Amino acid sequence: MKVVHTIGEVRDAVTEARHSGKRIGFVATMGFLHEGHLVLVDKSSEVSDFQVMSIFVNRMQFNDPNDFNSYPIDLERDYRLAGDRGVDLVFVPNETEMYQDRLTYVDIEKMTDFLCGYARPGHFRGVLTVVSKLFNIIQPDVAVFGQKDIQQAASIQKMVEDLNFPIDIILGPIVREDSGLAMSSRNKHLTDDQRERALVLFKSLQKAEELILSGERNESSLVPAMTDIISAGKPEKIDYITLAGYHDLQPVSHITGKCVLAVAAYFGNTRLIDNMVIEMKGDTCECVY
Ligand code: PAJ
Repeated sequence: MKVVHTIGEVRDAVTEARHSGKRIGFVATMGFLHEGHLVLVDKSSEVSDFQVMSIFVNRMQFNDPNDFNSYPIDLERDYRLAGDRGVDLVFVPNETEMYQDRLTYVDIEKMTDFLCGYARPGHFRGVLTVVSKLFNIIQPDVAVFGQKDIQQAASIQKMVEDLNFPIDIILGPIVREDSGLAMSSRNKHLTDDQRERALVLFKSLQKAEELILSGERNESSLVPAMTDIISAGKPEKIDYITLAGYHDLQPVSHITGKCVLAVAAYFGNTRLIDNMVIEMKGDTCECVY
């Protein structure tokens, strides 16, 4: 596995791979890798031959400077894990390489008004700007993003359609710890007690699935049932529990077509998110979480 730090080097390595007939796969990360990131590499390897990963803690997408400053970094460990998983090229730019003299942003309307966009103004503008830059720098054929950050993945998908990036976007599954807690670099900040209490997020999705499979379709029944379960974990704050349409992420009152049931809550100072994608198949619903 090769590690490069400049745009020139990454372009040269990708061009060489492409000239030898390889299809380029890409996974964007902020490092401190865990199984959730590595499964995206597996997914990318199923449909492409040369795996590129970026590791860049993107200051522009952090609302809170403390959150940025405390973001965990362990590059040596990341290189080992990525290499073992079959990554061919890791791009680790510094801030000057990525953002020198930048005046341009990429932003999306409507899709970031609710869910995490409401609580984190400017966050998705930072994500879409850096992802556009990475797409243009690396020029992958396919890129994989995790369902864990569903609003991010759906917004990137829409951006790619709207701005005609010639890139296939694939959704990777949510990887969970044995307990059911969705893996996240942020879990590192949880105390044992907070980690235990945070399991209510997963349990609330399990409850929602049970209700949905027994025929419930209304937000007005699903959300209160989930609120009861999450409240029992005594979160410091529930940010949202929302049913939204999958393609525009606007709140909906009942399940039709493809929807997302998404939750966000604070345990201690750590904000955790989780979600379920619900798809109507005839009269039945498939729940993926
Ligand atoms: P980061 O949080 O490092 O996540 C990188 C990718 O891993 C994202 O696509 C995210 O959805 C996915 N991921 C994280 N935890 C996961 C889990 N438990 N299961 C499955 N996938 C998981 O998301 C970002 O970085 C940044 O916003 C980025 C896209 C790199 C732009 O800066």
